[in-house]
Amino acid sequence: MPIDEITQKVSDRYARAASTGEQVCGPTIYDFAELKSFIPEEVLKISYGYGTPAWLKTVSKGETVLAIGSGGSIDCFEASRLVGPTGHVIGVDMTDTMLAIARKNAPLVAANLGYPASNVEFRKGTADAIPVIDGAVDLIISNCVINLAPDKRKVFREMFRVAKPGGRFTISDIVADQPVPQYLVHDTDKWGDCLSGALTLTNYIAGMVGAGFLGIHLIKSSPWQVIDGIHFLSVTLTGYKLPAGTSVSAVHYATLCGPFSRAVDELGTTYLRGIPQPITPDTRCLLNQAPLASHFILSSTPLWLDRSDTRWTAVYPADAPCQWQGYFALLAGPFVEAADDDHHVYRRGEPVEICSKTLTVLGTDGYAPHFAIINRAGRNASDDAVASPPNQESCC
Ligand SMILES: C[S@@+](CC[C@H](N)C(=O)[O-])C[C@H]1O[C@@H](n2cnc3c(N)ncnc32)[C@H](O)[C@@H]1O
Repeated sequence: MPIDEITQKVSDRYARAASTGEQVCGPTIYDFAELKSFIPEEVLKISYGYGTPAWLKTVSKGETVLAIGSGGSIDCFEASRLVGPTGHVIGVDMTDTMLAIARKNAPLVAANLGYPASNVEFRKGTADAIPVIDGAVDLIISNCVINLAPDKRKVFREMFRVAKPGGRFTISDIVADQPVPQYLVHDTDKWGDCLSGALTLTNYIAGMVGAGFLGIHLIKSSPWQVIDGIHFLSVTLTGYKLPAGTSVSAVHYATLCGPFSRAVDELGTTYLRGIPQPITPDTRCLLNQAPLASHFILSSTPLWLDRSDTRWTAVYPADAPCQWQGYFALLAGPFVEAADDDHHVYRRGEPVEICSKTLTVLGTDGYAPHFAIINRAGRNASDDAVASPPNQESCC
């Protein structure tokens, strides 16, 4: 399908939805009671995202926030409240009907917030040609839009261009656990349903890294739909445009504390838990970002950890039989590859089948934030407990 045709169909779809108030996408989990206190009903009823990138409190006072595919603009108005009257919010959308509703409601929201004037402006444009100057934005948000864009690499490059050095994004979108087959890619209706254009999690994050973003990690995920065996998930990801240049620092080593026993970062450095790894200034800058910082000790001289050190973290599976219930784990950053203490190697975005014991391990605090979990069992999986053979390396 030609790119222009996809874009036109998607725009028509959302113009129609905005006019009729029809429900298009999955339910978001905003606190609508709170939002109702300052956002008009006309906006709330055309909230078509899957996540809550602004509501996650990723927005700080005084910032410039860009919302890509702002739609009715629930996220822009929430960001407007969070940046305060000194901040600035820019909503970009390609659909006139959406822009008209958003523009009409901006002064009402400003009045409800007690602002002297609206701090939100709306610009017509597409995600792959964002009408914003270079390096202008502290935070880019987007809610269920990039999957609708035919050329996502171009979108990621545009995001990187408009972000300030030191800026970041928090994006909610739909991804798939495997490549979407061509018969769905060419199904015009499913483009508007946020299915046809979904990338795999691996390709989605690789596209962002290819554009220059680093430290990409999961904020939230939830399973959404299964179509012909393909699992579509809603994910919210954050990543950084690291500041240009690196300041002088005494830090030259990084020691991985765990819970991963081994991890590879996006710049290609491999870390083994407890063993100091010499790092470059670029890597130091990366490891200073959340959530990477919480996994490392950065030091000026080599620092070894052993199991007796309270900073060493490890989570072992229970010494008991396990059950195979259809669960798969997808590492979603901040590492490109990581291993646990049970011989599983997780590569970013690639589903790894896990048993009940590993499900418990990955549910612990150190691991849970980094994994999206899906269940591929098409029927009730057997509850039979499986004992590990004594010579098997992992419980699985
Ligand atoms: C699923 S709705 C989400 C709207 C809004 N983010 C929300 O959470 O309610 C998708 C929105 O993105 C816009 N959109 C889709 N593809 C776009 C593109 N390539 N460039 C700009 N806007 C786009 C549509 O016009 C629509 O308003």
